[in-house]
Amino acid sequence: MCGIVGYTGKRAAMPVLISGLKKLEYRGYDSAGIALSGESGIIVRKQSGKVSGLSDLVDGEKDTLSLSHSGIAHTRWATHGPPTTLNAHPHEGNEGRVVLVHNGIIENHNALRERFKSAGHVFKSETDSEVLAHLVEVNYDGDLLAAVKKSLKEVDGTYGITCMVKDEPGVLVVARSGSPIVIGLGEDETIVASDASAIITYTRQAIYLDDNDIARIEGSKVDIESLDSGAVTRATSEIDWSPDAAEKGGYEHYMLKEVFEQPEAIRNTIRGRIDLNRGTAILSGLNLTPRELVDIQRLLIVGCGTSMNAGLIGEYAVEDFAAIPAEVEQAAEFRYRNPIVGSRDLVLAISQSGETADTLAAVREAVDKGTLVAALVNVVGSTIARETGRGIYLHAGPEVSVASTKAFTSQVSVLLMIALKIARAHRLSREKGIQIAKEIQRLPELVQQVLDCNDKIAEVAKHYADYNNAFYIGRGYMFPVALEGALKLKEISYIHAEGYHSAELKHGPIALLEESMPVIALLNQGPGQDKTLSNVAECKARNAPVLGVITKGDEEARKTCDHVIEIPACPQYTAVVPAAVALQLFSYHVARIRGCAIDQPRNLAKSVTVE
Ligand code: F6R
Repeated sequence: MCGIVGYTGKRAAMPVLISGLKKLEYRGYDSAGIALSGESGIIVRKQSGKVSGLSDLVDGEKDTLSLSHSGIAHTRWATHGPPTTLNAHPHEGNEGRVVLVHNGIIENHNALRERFKSAGHVFKSETDSEVLAHLVEVNYDGDLLAAVKKSLKEVDGTYGITCMVKDEPGVLVVARSGSPIVIGLGEDETIVASDASAIITYTRQAIYLDDNDIARIEGSKVDIESLDSGAVTRATSEIDWSPDAAEKGGYEHYMLKEVFEQPEAIRNTIRGRIDLNRGTAILSGLNLTPRELVDIQRLLIVGCGTSMNAGLIGEYAVEDFAAIPAEVEQAAEFRYRNPIVGSRDLVLAISQSGETADTLAAVREAVDKGTLVAALVNVVGSTIARETGRGIYLHAGPEVSVASTKAFTSQVSVLLMIALKIARAHRLSREKGIQIAKEIQRLPELVQQVLDCNDKIAEVAKHYADYNNAFYIGRGYMFPVALEGALKLKEISYIHAEGYHSAELKHGPIALLEESMPVIALLNQGPGQDKTLSNVAECKARNAPVLGVITKGDEEARKTCDHVIEIPACPQYTAVVPAAVALQLFSYHVARIRGCAIDQPRNLAKSVTVE
């Protein structure tokens, strides 16, 4: 996820900005840049790669650059355009007078870009953020605050920005809408950042901006206004994080941080991709017309691990909504078994990293077989994204924790949208499409409701932390969730866990049921719930402890279980997301109680680039 730092005060700005960027490295990024304001104008230095590279670059010009007492800096995680030096922030206006750094997405950037191009502007990057820099410069008439205010009223989307102009050295203008900005109040100085980790070396006094706030900052003078009204006052808070927690945005582990980022990650994934009016999804990266979509007779989904589990949910959704066959295949199996693919198949490769060796090889096999191949990838510019050239980025932000969490729920969100889009090209009515689209839009809120139960889930986890084995059971859409729940538990807590279709228990695994074999049952309301309830009764009859993931307020299901975790009521096809989040939190707390190395589980790597 991108990071912002800004400084105005008495010190040399450069070392403060570079140290701030280093503190934000934990967020993940692929390029970095800095802009320093001085007597002779604004100097911008940026490059793809690590902050250390940028630091070496500016160090070579230390004598000049250290004279500057205000500046802005950024770490970029590519969304619009690959991770190149030109796409790195800060971005400049057409005449290089205005410079800004931006987190978020400007949704109407294409329209603005066209407008400026016809006025003769030249763009250096492919980013939406550069368009905003051009806009502020066009609106600048001697007052940076007024120019930014005017510009933000013309944009749609989300932003956290920090902006400077050549004519007002020492002045920073910051604003937020949907992407955080914190203002660190020092003595004779102010440090702004997208997250408090970058400021706590200098001060623990901070103001967190609200959405629609905009502030003009000069030295230690901070004036905050609302975009819609005049001056506003925001409370100052004391940051009490430990330095270690600060590296993870205040969370004890990256995994927990990423679990909690899910409402925002899913919001970013679905933003601009739902057309409520037409009851469909807008997935331009797929690059398929409705005519071409209707020609697709089968979807073949390939991936590994968590990505494959997400694919299984996609299989259910495609068959459910679109009534065309979908199959999921482990990517290694696909690559080696000379798969049968036809000209009317669409192969969909799913990979968070976009680098997984088996998934990449499966993509190459499908390309060689001459079929349509699309990718669903999180990391922009990754090999799978480049080699397919057709696909959908998750926009979930960087995932640092080895255990994949937010990538999974973002993958599922995209798969639901793909299923909806294919379905609308086939037989799904507009009315039904609108209904599904509305349910997809509820996902961030459904996840938030589960996150709000974190303390309760931590309590429940205490009852299950001492077992050596566990079964996860579910049916229908909840079967892949059982597989994913078991995978999460085993990889971070080292408890042996297996996911089964509820009906499969009787065909062997039931032999293992006894008081030392807990069963985690996906029991939320929906088709098949009664059957799984019967399976749970069979488990209880063999003294197995049962933890149920149930629909909020379902007293019947609650009575059947020893412990429950509640998820909000919603259709099964979206319930997979809050249910998976509940199981992520459960695994996290079990692993924490057992003292496991949650972010770096033994024997595992974040990106499996070998077979
Ligand atoms: C589990 C996990 C792995 C990955 C798998 C595929 O938490 O992270 O199972 O899902 O290695 O990785 P990607 O999605 O990068 O292809």
